Amino acid sequence: MATALITGASNGIGLALAHRLSADGNDVILVARSVDKLQALADELSARHGINAQVIGQDLGYEGAAEELMAALGDQRVDMLINNAGFGEFGTFIDADMKRLNQMVQLNVAALTALAHAMGRRMVAQGGGQILNVASIAGFMPGPGAAVYYASKAYVLSFSDALNYELKGHNVHVTTLCPGPTDTGFASAANAEASAAFKWPMLSSLDSLVDYAYDSLKAKRGVSIHRWLIKVMAFAVRISPRFIVNAISAHSIGFKR
Ligand SMILES: NC(=O)c1ccc[n+]([C@@H]2O[C@H](COP(=O)([O-])OP(=O)(O)OC[C@H]3O[C@@H](n4cnc5c(N)ncnc54)[C@H](OP(=O)(O)O)[C@@H]3O)[C@@H](O)[C@H]2O)c1
Repeated sequence: MATALITGASNGIGLALAHRLSADGNDVILVARSVDKLQALADELSARHGINAQVIGQDLGYEGAAEELMAALGDQRVDMLINNAGFGEFGTFIDADMKRLNQMVQLNVAALTALAHAMGRRMVAQGGGQILNVASIAGFMPGPGAAVYYASKAYVLSFSDALNYELKGHNVHVTTLCPGPTDTGFASAANAEASAAFKWPMLSSLDSLVDYAYDSLKAKRGVSIHRWLIKVMAFAVRISPRFIVNAISAHSIGFKR
């Protein structure tokens, strides 16, 4: 079976994917800052499924962090990289703490890119592999009231789609997962719980999202959008005038001028 390295495995989507992958007999390398949570998860997964579960405690929100993770990993083989760790910050751009915005760009953009680079090279050299980059429906549109987060996910979507095209000939497949709002710790960490985006009918259950994500990995899908409602939104954004997209996006985030 394969070995999957999962960033942001201590909670939400990453944690649920760790359960799915190990239930299918894959070894897992669990990465996040909360080492105690990761160790408890590793113990549970190895006891339940008889797989090898390893923990690497790593903050990925500063320059050079991805390189530290690669050093901690050494020359261990990784067949699947799940580039999932990320966070959002809802609020007016000029009122936001610039230090926190920098951490977001480091985590959502720079660390994801550096890990895809290091792992992509290794996967080509070893004859194949898979990368799942977690973008968002936010990647399809501007987000007044969460401008940097939406822009970070637009980067992930564009970058991952291109990378899939580049690497396919080397038997390395890149899936870009674009969840809509999903019931995890994300909304409270982003101060987004009051937004319309995190209410019915927009909110997805974590189980259905992760079922879909896991199917997408197995099917080696490229851009992978969960739920018809979210697919329709992603399509509508492409054919609608920018000012309308901005206005609807701002409304769903809860931003008022
Ligand atoms: N939930 C949604 O509505 C939604 C929608 C679209 C896209 N997404 C994307 O899905 C991904 C996972 O989010 P989630 O919903 O599962 O959120 P979550 O429940 O808040 O989990 C976030 C994970 O990222 C880790 N993390 C946060 N900061 C980190 C850092 N500096 N270094 C290393 N790990 C860090 C956290 O672990 P520690 O705190 O232990 O480090 C945690 O394991 C994110 O990229 C998010 O943007 C989420």
